[in-house]
Amino acid sequence: MSRLEGKIAIITGGARGTGEQTARLFADEGAKVVIGDVLEEEGAATAADIGEAASFVRLDVTDPESWKDCIEHTVATFGAPTVLVNNAGLLHMEAFVDIDPAKYEQLWRVNLFGPFLGMQAVTDAMQSAGGGSIINVSSVDGLSAKNGLGAYVPTKWGLRGLTRVAALELGQRGIRVNTVCPEAGGPGMRKEFIPDSIDPMDTLSFTHGVIPQNQKRPGIEIIRDIARMILFLASDESLSCTGADYPVDAGWTAGHRLKFNPGYKAD
Ligand SMILES: NC(=O)c1ccc[n+]([C@@H]2O[C@H](COP(=O)([O-])OP(=O)(O)OC[C@H]3O[C@@H](n4cnc5c(N)ncnc54)[C@H](O)[C@@H]3O)[C@@H](O)[C@H]2O)c1
Repeated sequence: MSRLEGKIAIITGGARGTGEQTARLFADEGAKVVIGDVLEEEGAATAADIGEAASFVRLDVTDPESWKDCIEHTVATFGAPTVLVNNAGLLHMEAFVDIDPAKYEQLWRVNLFGPFLGMQAVTDAMQSAGGGSIINVSSVDGLSAKNGLGAYVPTKWGLRGLTRVAALELGQRGIRVNTVCPEAGGPGMRKEFIPDSIDPMDTLSFTHGVIPQNQKRPGIEIIRDIARMILFLASDESLSCTGADYPVDAGWTAGHRLKFNPGYKAD
């Protein structure tokens, strides 16, 4: 298939997890892909495994100079970028009252300042290519909230606001901007916050147990569906879509299933 034939994409945080799955899917669909990540070994290995359609560049999304290098690398390797997936992200889980301000700032830098810098950095090159599509990876935690995520949730809500401003401003340059709001992602992100005895993928099963549709799916399939939503927004199939949020959450943010109301079905 070739739903992304001719597209040149930059995927941040593409060394592993959601970004890696997205990079593989993009290449399968005919795109050229630059994987930007601070994880040099894993990022280079992922790009090498994908083959000639992919290239790795070290990118720290919090650093404007690093973004400049990434755009130059992309133009030199494949041509002007027509897709940017701001996927790199950091998680922190701690009670709100205990969060170190430095940790709060670090999450803000990676999850919100990074996409801001990326969108600024890519705009001229993308416009020169005739326009394109930017996909910012937010979260269900950008549509709702959970205890323990005081440093993370505000960055994901903020990213949705930034997306809308960017969509309104960049539309005249032929650039669409949307957010994807997944319920889950790569197991690596939450690993350090889960006891060693528990497989991070099992924590996803817990999540599935409380989503309204009671869908129980293996983790890898969730990541596949997130990558597919990103693919749709990157492709010309979504030319009318901009400035909007696209949850991939199996109904997580739809509401609550109440046992004593009509329409309840036991698991
Ligand atoms: N894992 C989840 O449960 C979950 C749920 C909802 C949304 N998300 C979001 O999905 C996106 C992808 O996360 P994931 O689940 O694949 O987790 P992940 O930890 O596997 O991947 C995140 C990637 O971002 C990279 N990264 C971190 N800081 C960076 C920086 N300064 N510069 C460049 N790259 C950097 C990491 O090295 C890593 O490769 C994130 O934005 C995350 O917030 C994740």
